[in-house]
Amino acid sequence: MLSLCLLLLLHLSGFGTAHPGSHDETAYFRSLVSSRSVHEARQKLARCSDHIKRKGLDARAATRRAAILDSYRGISHSGAGPKSSRSSTSQAVLSSSENPPCLLTPEATIGPFWVDGELIRSNVTDGEPGIPLILDGEFIDIHTCEPVEDVFWEIWNCNATGTYSGVQDFGHHHGDDDSNLDKTYLRGVQRTDKDGAAQFTTVFPGHYPGRATHIHVLAHVGATILPNNTVTGGHVAHIGQLFFDQDLIAAVESTPHYKANNVRITPNINDGIFNDVNSASGYDPILSYTRLGHSLDDGILAWTTMGIDLSASYEAESAASLTDHGGVAHFHGWSAHVPGAREIIVLVVGLGLVFWLARSFRQFCARSA
Ligand SMILES: *[C@@H]1O[C@H](CO)[C@@H](O)[C@H](O)[C@H]1NC(C)=O
Ligand SMILES: *[C@@H]1O[C@H](CO)[C@@H](O)[C@H](O)[C@H]1NC(C)=O
Ligand SMILES: *[C@@H]1O[C@H](CO)[C@@H](O)[C@H](O)[C@H]1NC(C)=O
Repeated sequence: MLSLCLLLLLHLSGFGTAHPGSHDETAYFRSLVSSRSVHEARQKLARCSDHIKRKGLDARAATRRAAILDSYRGISHSGAGPKSSRSSTSQAVLSSSENPPCLLTPEATIGPFWVDGELIRSNVTDGEPGIPLILDGEFIDIHTCEPVEDVFWEIWNCNATGTYSGVQDFGHHHGDDDSNLDKTYLRGVQRTDKDGAAQFTTVFPGHYPGRATHIHVLAHVGATILPNNTVTGGHVAHIGQLFFDQDLIAAVESTPHYKANNVRITPNINDGIFNDVNSASGYDPILSYTRLGHSLDDGILAWTTMGIDLSASYEAESAASLTDHGGVAHFHGWSAHVPGAREIIVLVVGLGLVFWLARSFRQFCARSA
């Protein structure tokens, strides 16, 4: 009984269950990233660059990004900002052919913070403070090198101080109270157009322990839209993460909302997931970007081309679901473990039994003496 109780105690206190967050995100990823199919997909994708140029897809992408830039710069009225190695305003750099397309890495990187059932919407900020980030993404089929229309592209990222909405994760302060479950900030779904492209307005992600600054990405293929503006059916053809230029991260992290976060910044080169995906040749996980104005506060336009294998289908495990009656957490596997009422009752009864046994034993010994 005692050992059972000890086990229970250990279980409840978190030993024996994997904690969510940095360490597990990385460890879980490593076991899967080097699979052969990923390697083959990368080789296929590397051959797409020529095709993209020939068909004028890169030129169309550059025009689209220039138009986005103009519309936002029109709002900010402050013109082009300073340039960094990856930042430029020229149409050539706004094209995707400069960098090899980014191949989304599979399932392993889902992480413990995916919430299924999110809304189809372009502006996902929900009023969260931070540096505005316009994200332009383009999906190409790694087998045909053609753009993929009707992908439901889903993103989620943490806010300026490193918290995800919609989940309950006591370990890393992602919703220590369950009110976080009903929040949807910095999460959403968009449908790709004829050029395989879609855009989001989010805020530049902050950071949390052990992970470099990143945005989670998931691609639903063959899904349909429900009347309440969510998607259903189809399959998850890809899951991945997008990273940022280190200088840009430093600049953003020095602005007021981000500075409030005391957690140490994990640079890209110290992030296990980044290193694994970055070391693969012909593949670039860092978003290209340009500033929307002189001040960082005006925002950033970032873009990438992502290759997907439409026939791939991944089992995606969500931490919670957004439903018509709010967010509902799922506690399973390596996500946060919160004791249920039944476990607490078992523990209390168990402790009571131990106490009763100990007392009986003492009385027995006293009588025998
Ligand atoms: C996005 O939505 C927020 C409210 O959630 C609003 O304040 C903001 O102006 C919107 N941004 C854009 C670019 O439309
Ligand atoms: C991030 O979200 C958490 C929880 O919702 C909130 O307490 C915090 O203030 C947010 N960060 C910023 C910069 O608003
Ligand atoms: C949308 O509709 C589906 C199907 O009725 C339902 O399961 C889901 O909870 C709804 N989601 C929201 C956010 O209302």
